[in-house]
Amino acid sequence: MKFKVQITECDNIIKFIIRHKFIKGNSKLTAIKKDNSIMICDINVRYNCKGIGTTLVKHLIQYAKDNHYNKITGWISSVDLDHIDRLKHFYGKFGFEISKSDDKDDPIRIYNLNLSI
Ligand SMILES: CC(C)(COP(=O)(O)OP(=O)(O)OC[C@H]1O[C@@H](n2cnc3c(N)ncnc32)[C@H](O)[C@@H]1OP(=O)(O)O)[C@@H](O)C(=O)NCCC(=O)NCCS
Repeated sequence: MKFKVQITECDNIIKFIIRHKFIKGNSKLTAIKKDNSIMICDINVRYNCKGIGTTLVKHLIQYAKDNHYNKITGWISSVDLDHIDRLKHFYGKFGFEISKSDDKDDPIRIYNLNLSI
């Protein structure tokens, strides 16, 4: 299925939004731009496993390439451990390196995500 993505930017925050015609609420990816990298803050889709998340991340990667960023980062938190297999597959297929976090100040952060552009 093809989804139309709207991009909005305000200061260093960028959002990739997919609006659904007959469904209340949007699917979106929110990220923060800092120096040469973009950090994913949140990704939320209305329906899992329909290719919506893939479309959002592909747009983010294309945006990063077009605007000469050299890295996309993010993290997986403990609240998402119930679907960790899906997340590992999801980020892995774009080439994200997934490494255990040892950030003692942020125990909720379980894995770090890193993609070199
Ligand atoms: C992770 C998430 C954002 C992905 O969005 P999505 O629209 O479901 O993703 P897609 O449909 O594009 O892709 C899902 C992929 O996971 C795969 N998958 C589904 N269940 C799986 C499982 N149990 N194990 C491994 N892979 C699985 C699908 O086959 C698909 O892979 P494919 O494209 O190679 O066929 C969404 O599913 C989700 O979990 N949202 C909850 C919030 C969240 O976890 N946010 C991320 C915080 S880091």
